[in-house]
Amino acid sequence: MSNRPELPPEIARRRTFAIISHPDAGKTTLTEKFLLYGGAIQMAGQVRAKGEARRTRSDFMQMEKDRGISVSASAMSFDFDTYRFNLVDTPGHSDFSEDTYRTLTAVDAAVMVIDGAKGVESQTQKLFEVCRLRDLPILTFCNKMDRESRDTFEIIDEIQENLAIDVSPASWPIGRGRDFVGCYDLLRDELQLMDRADRNTIAESIKIKGLDDPKLAELVPADLLETFLEEIEMARELLPPLDPKALLEGTMTPIWFGSAINSFGVQELMNGIATYGPEPQIQNAEPRKIAPEESKVAGFVFKVQANMDPKHRDRVAFLRMASGHFKRGMKLTHVRTKKPMAVSNPVLFLASDRELAEEAWAGDIIGIPNHGQLRIGDTLTEGEAIRVTGIPSFAPELLQTCRAGDPLKSKHLEKALMQFAEEGAAKVFKPTFGSGYIVGVVGALQFEVLASRIELEYGLPVRFEASQFTSARWVAGDQAAKDKFIAANKQHIATDNDGDTVYLTRLQWDIDRVERDYPDVSLTATKEMM
Ligand code: G4P
Repeated sequence: MSNRPELPPEIARRRTFAIISHPDAGKTTLTEKFLLYGGAIQMAGQVRAKGEARRTRSDFMQMEKDRGISVSASAMSFDFDTYRFNLVDTPGHSDFSEDTYRTLTAVDAAVMVIDGAKGVESQTQKLFEVCRLRDLPILTFCNKMDRESRDTFEIIDEIQENLAIDVSPASWPIGRGRDFVGCYDLLRDELQLMDRADRNTIAESIKIKGLDDPKLAELVPADLLETFLEEIEMARELLPPLDPKALLEGTMTPIWFGSAINSFGVQELMNGIATYGPEPQIQNAEPRKIAPEESKVAGFVFKVQANMDPKHRDRVAFLRMASGHFKRGMKLTHVRTKKPMAVSNPVLFLASDRELAEEAWAGDIIGIPNHGQLRIGDTLTEGEAIRVTGIPSFAPELLQTCRAGDPLKSKHLEKALMQFAEEGAAKVFKPTFGSGYIVGVVGALQFEVLASRIELEYGLPVRFEASQFTSARWVAGDQAAKDKFIAANKQHIATDNDGDTVYLTRLQWDIDRVERDYPDVSLTATKEMM
């Protein structure tokens, strides 16, 4: 990043990242250990409830009911050494990929956790592809090395092949499974031995003067040492050394090996994030990009969480600070509506606590309680009409008609659905013809979560039924062409929750036909949130 001016120290020390992984690889455990090392929690176990809750469907619903937990874990800030880490949570379930995608627009790097026995699993692969679209730097943690794991070279090969990224070992495991004794830190020439007896202590690092230091033979059993030295020799021949520039460009990932549950390898990973992880980056925006060092404050909403307290119908918009030094009480301009907005009670998420944020710097994530003014994709500035770009909305893959159990309550239903639409939990379409609403989601589980939340938060039982449509596309083109198209296809036309025109159909054939018959109209599967 030598082509960039030096950042003010408060900004330069921020590291804002997300963890991507396949369920069960150990994301929750690693998060917990991060917080433990960051001094944010006193005891392991506090984040635990969440990981377990995720596992079963009914528990998941319970978690959704218990909004408090999921909110305070959506963004977590803690200090590590002289750094401020902002860890943004990505929803674990694959049904929430759209939310995940948007979360990844708010971070500067991702930590990819893989299970040493399972390697690159499907969800990891998907999330990785999303990171790739943005050239996001990725640091890899290979977890569960205390268990029977794959051969180290095999793991590295699999990442290189499946994800098409160069892998550089930052540490190397010594022994495997029951014989796993620790790791050699290749970046610092240190040996770390794992203590299986105490899971919550930080492994001691033993300084080593290169691989022929006699201390190694004193500390590592002879057979393990022999294999390790052979492997290291091969690794140095076959694998590239860490190139910080390639890491920042997203073409190389350093890999650390460890065992999150044993607190092992975690500190080295954190050191890696601090040393090599990117500082807050330049944000794409229109009509100009936003640089973190700019003195004026700018930020954008990447997530909205509603009804944390059903009694108050409040919402929290999660704002990623793109530039400047924010102070509580500042009056910012809400660019979409051009209205001023006094941000008087922003919150900072410190592990399990929420705290008033007196200040925040570029890179930080703050929560802004509001009554619905703030939507995903909104930009707040100190007056300039500038809009952060690249926060997408995807065409839903599943559509169902939603009806209120009590037909007299359909107005209430509209309100509830609109609220979830603004939160980004679903797309809501109002067809030109016919009654009811068509709700679109990415994964089937979302219908269940929605039905349960509408009942819980609005006291409104609802039914989701099969819809005659299965696909939705946004209609783009100049107004005259659009009008002609709409007039001729009324039975397929609806408006989405933002008032944009949508074409609903059940056949790909229809979409192809429109593209053929209406060359001036295009049907798109994504639109930009604004
Ligand atoms: P997730 O958030 O990615 O879904 O994973 P989570 O951290 O919940 O971990 C999934 C399971 O893997 C948990 O076991 C957890 O204890 C275990 N685990 C995490 N890290 C390690 C590790 O380094 N070594 C070993 N051996 N296991 C690890 P569980 O039985 O499902 O839950 P629990 O009963 O332990 O809470």
